[in-house]
Amino acid sequence: MGTALAFHPSLYTPRVPQNLLEEVQEIEDPLEPTPERIEAGRKIFFGKGECVTCHSKNGKGVRIPGHSSRDFTNSKWQDLRADGELMWILKNGSPGTGMPIRVGRVITEEEGWEVIQFIRTFNGKTEK
Ligand code: HEC
Repeated sequence: MGTALAFHPSLYTPRVPQNLLEEVQEIEDPLEPTPERIEAGRKIFFGKGECVTCHSKNGKGVRIPGHSSRDFTNSKWQDLRADGELMWILKNGSPGTGMPIRVGRVITEEEGWEVIQFIRTFNGKTEK
């Protein structure tokens, strides 16, 4: 310990630690996506989750010194990450980056799944 976390900015590097990855990837969204839940997720993204501050209105993200936020419209990224990994990031943040812990701090786990459903709607889209 005591050394700075070596952060690998590549898209292909999972954010979840290797020893937990397989287990985390198997965790599925327990909530069936519905238009109502996606709408609730949109409100969280723009409201109390404060996601829009760093991830911007269109999900492409803003430039942050050191390490910019993820472009949610990148369908390669969308395909690479399982829902369970996104939930892990909401609960733990993305170590070594500005991505803060959200679930358990500002939103509940259920709200976390809703905002994940909303983030999935950015896939392949440039508007919104
Ligand atoms: C203070 C700025 C900030 C806020 C607020 C923020 N994020 Fe992030 N987020 C980031 C940064 C920076 C990254 C890039 C981290 C990385 O590359 O690992 C990121 C990455 C992510 C990722 C993807 C990590 C990956 O797999 O590459 C997800 C999912 C995410 N954020 C969701 C959210 C949600 C949902 C909210 C609101 C509830 C939110 N973020 C709020 C800065 C922020």
